[in-house]
Amino acid sequence: MSKQRVVAVQIAYQVVFKQSNLTEQFKQRLLKSHTPEFKSAVKAICYETIRHYQWLEDWWLKCVDKKPKDKLVRVVLCLALAEYKFLNKPAHVIVNEAINTAKKLKKPWASSLINACLRTAVDLTNEQASNEVAQYSHPLWWIEKLKKDWPEDWQQLLIANNQKPPLWVRANSTITLDNPHSSISNAYKIQPQDIKKNNDFVAGLFSVQDASAQLATHILKPCADDFILDMCAAPGGKTCHILELGGSVKLDALELFPNRAKKIHENLSRLKLKANVITADATDLGSWFDGIKYNKVLLDAPCSASGVVRRQPDIKFQRTEKDLDDICQTQQKLLNSAAEVLNENGMLLYATCSVFQQENSEQIQLFLKSHPEFKEIKLKYPFAINCQHGIQILTGAEDMDGFYYCLITKSND
Ligand SMILES: C[S@@+](CC[C@H](N)C(=O)[O-])C[C@H]1O[C@@H](n2cnc3c(N)ncnc32)[C@H](O)[C@@H]1O
Repeated sequence: MSKQRVVAVQIAYQVVFKQSNLTEQFKQRLLKSHTPEFKSAVKAICYETIRHYQWLEDWWLKCVDKKPKDKLVRVVLCLALAEYKFLNKPAHVIVNEAINTAKKLKKPWASSLINACLRTAVDLTNEQASNEVAQYSHPLWWIEKLKKDWPEDWQQLLIANNQKPPLWVRANSTITLDNPHSSISNAYKIQPQDIKKNNDFVAGLFSVQDASAQLATHILKPCADDFILDMCAAPGGKTCHILELGGSVKLDALELFPNRAKKIHENLSRLKLKANVITADATDLGSWFDGIKYNKVLLDAPCSASGVVRRQPDIKFQRTEKDLDDICQTQQKLLNSAAEVLNENGMLLYATCSVFQQENSEQIQLFLKSHPEFKEIKLKYPFAINCQHGIQILTGAEDMDGFYYCLITKSND
């Protein structure tokens, strides 16, 4: 049992202290020789440890005289408390296993510290965290940004970010499932499971996609004569949805990275759909645009992903405020390119899985200022908040991911 904890500590250490990507860490450190049980145990421990890291550290810090300098030992303590609090492991198990894990990591000197610290910690509950960073397990800049952007909802958003995410799927029109979304057709919330083993999934009867992401296609309303550009398309969730709803619609799916473009092909082939997949930088029009304009463009822009933190808790350790400025510049360039390839009277749907106004309403505000020929088409949904420009689904609303949409149209009137 401690072997899986050793792997989990190494992964969590890489994420927390080296800003590594959690999915990449799983790929590197979970081997073919590991059993499915081993893999899912490591994943469960890592997710809970990373999700609540600052709160867990605040908890055990109250039980030691001095913070240990050794970062691996610090992760061992957090991981043990994550198992105790969120995975229902008994106190004696987490104490013994933490000591064994430290020994396996060649830190036998930490045994007495771990023993004393964890035995004290399990008698505390840490209901009174020392500060907001510990209380919400988010970086301070992130908390401050949400306070400014969402003065009434920031606490709820931070709490939602630390919840286990549900599994939303998009069913094709031939099947119905239990637990449909209240108003997004074909969106269902199903029991968490290993989807690749589900025969209906393999047969292409449904796809994994959060209900908030499914809204993109319903807003775009693809129809037979449309010529659509999905400008940032991989892994192809929205590309496939557009093709499923749009019948004989013609669609170009553009993606910068070849390995990610491969995912679009995989999804198209599982669902038996056809699109023209282009691997290119959307902002370098000369490299891919042949001059034939589109009547609809979906720009599902690269973003901070602050709306999907419950699925990717490692984002909290990777993003910095400075990154956000760089991301916003890329989004503005992509918007400019989208504007150029859109037909007059065409529609541009800008989307992000972010809840930061800087990437959303403020981004559109900037765009509209420099592109007076564009006008916003107002959207309204019961589960979304109307912003100055566009709509925001806050993370957790109807148990969906955080998502932003703004629909704009090009006209010379
Ligand atoms: C939010 S994801 C898109 C998700 C996708 N629409 C879906 O629903 O499956 C953004 C994508 O844009 C791609 N991307 C980033 N910069 C790009 C660029 N300059 N040109 C084209 N694609 C880009 C990223 O690699 C990433 O795959």
